[in-house]
Amino acid sequence: MTRDPRPIAMSDQPAEKTEKAERRQFRAIKGTRDILPPDSALWNWFEQSAREVFESYNFRDIRTPIFEETSLFARSIGEDTDVVGKEMYTFTVLEQGIDDLRRAQDTIVSYPSPWNSPEHYEVFCRFVERFIEQFRNARSKGLLPKDQFNRLMFENLERDFAEFEGPGSGPTQQLIESVQNHADVIEIGTYLALRPEATASVCRAYIEHGMQTLPGNQKLYYAGPMFRRERPQKGRYRQFYQVGAEVLGPSDAPAIDAEVLEMLLTLFNRVGLANIKLYVNSIGCKECRPKYVELLRAELRKVKDQLKEDSQRRIETNPLRVLDSKLPEEQAIIEKLPRVSEHLCDACREHFSKLKDELALRGVGYEENWRLVRGLDYYTRTTFEVTAAGLGSQNAVCGGGRYDGLVELLGGPAGIKGIGFAIGTDRAILSIQESGKLPKLPGLAVFVAWMGAKAYAPAVAIAKKLRARGLAVELPPEELKFRKSLGLADKLGARYALIIGEDEAASGTFTLKRLADGQQDKLDESALIARVESELRGPNAR
Ligand code: HAM
Repeated sequence: MTRDPRPIAMSDQPAEKTEKAERRQFRAIKGTRDILPPDSALWNWFEQSAREVFESYNFRDIRTPIFEETSLFARSIGEDTDVVGKEMYTFTVLEQGIDDLRRAQDTIVSYPSPWNSPEHYEVFCRFVERFIEQFRNARSKGLLPKDQFNRLMFENLERDFAEFEGPGSGPTQQLIESVQNHADVIEIGTYLALRPEATASVCRAYIEHGMQTLPGNQKLYYAGPMFRRERPQKGRYRQFYQVGAEVLGPSDAPAIDAEVLEMLLTLFNRVGLANIKLYVNSIGCKECRPKYVELLRAELRKVKDQLKEDSQRRIETNPLRVLDSKLPEEQAIIEKLPRVSEHLCDACREHFSKLKDELALRGVGYEENWRLVRGLDYYTRTTFEVTAAGLGSQNAVCGGGRYDGLVELLGGPAGIKGIGFAIGTDRAILSIQESGKLPKLPGLAVFVAWMGAKAYAPAVAIAKKLRARGLAVELPPEELKFRKSLGLADKLGARYALIIGEDEAASGTFTLKRLADGQQDKLDESALIARVESELRGPNAR
């Protein structure tokens, strides 16, 4: 991995300054954050709810790596998108044992020319020879990225170097520069990126493991962190979390799209997301979309002067993205542009119309939004987004759509279709918190208030038994005074204090105090367990 260029110990600083710097507190990096209890319980509950709902639709968990080759994302999401163009966290990884090759490369590339002495010539030649030898060595050991381009550049470098003549006359300036340029573009490390999303990774895994040979469509779900270098604000982070689902297989039946949307809304209803709105669109396929894009571009060129800089640029790079503009002064212009729904081919129009029938059949409410084009290039036909309340400008809590050509684009089998979505977990949680309708989560069940040396052994034993039944139990590691013990039980939000003093220890009983109303009973072990379980878990659980 490339080294952090900053010095770790600032030895040339005055001692006092160094000490201060060493004692400084660390903070989470801008755009990242810690999710602490009790919020983390809400996160677990949300992700667990998603797992349960998705599994009821026969989706199964897939876990892919947090980093992948940069080009996987570039090819899937698109070079001209914000995500790939501006927001990815990328880094280069060198295999071990390749440092000398890297050094020889750096020396060749930065070697000053023109040369005015034969020594210059000799040293340069020695470095090129070393580079050639080490490159061959590293390649035979499989330490270099296997790349057609690399092979070609290396061959060119060797060809140019073979034309160098003896120190007397020396190579031409042109040949030297050509060797330097070829050395410069040879990739010695692998370019990696922290994943900005997971659809590309799921498709990569699908292809890598030949999952097209498995029976039926592959219905997969995932949950985990994603990384985009965006400007942080409420609901927008640089490390954020998604829960997503993908269906991959030979069929593109609209019923698949509809089932995915039904599943999504089932989850949102279950977790109580407030005021959600589902927007649906079809952006056509590789037959009809390019024609629409050209038409749109032509219309946009006519109104170019009335648009702001970003939209003006997008007319040429990606005109569909102009439809995404939120600028108030561009809205009236956009409303007059040709709409994709009027330019779909017959197959896409039929697909979209069947999708709407399927949604009606399943009772899924939605609104059509012809401007929903999404920011990633892989989409075809169905696209959708869900907004929720309480999120300000970042109100998209979920986005998704169909990506029928992606598997093939990534080198997989032809004819594999795909559709899926990703929910922004940070935003889903934020919206639930803002609504104030938080779920009642289990929390601490029993605080064991033991007092006196003889009470300790029965306290340890009962704590173990209650925990084995899945109850959360806090057992203080040191003896506490009675009042302090009950005070702490209260502060920790325990449902019960289980009091074990010397009396209880002697008689083999327990005093169970319900903290909500102070109700207190002396019980033996089996009555105690039965009482706690029925009150916390039974049909009349409080
Ligand atoms: P996306 O629209 O880029 O789609 O992201 C999906 C959701 O992730 C967004 O609606 C939002 O809730 C959340 N999100 C995105 N960026 C951030 C951020 N910086 N901070 C917080 N939340 C964020 C995708 O990622 C596609 N892979 C979805 C998909 C799956 N399409 C087909 N299959």
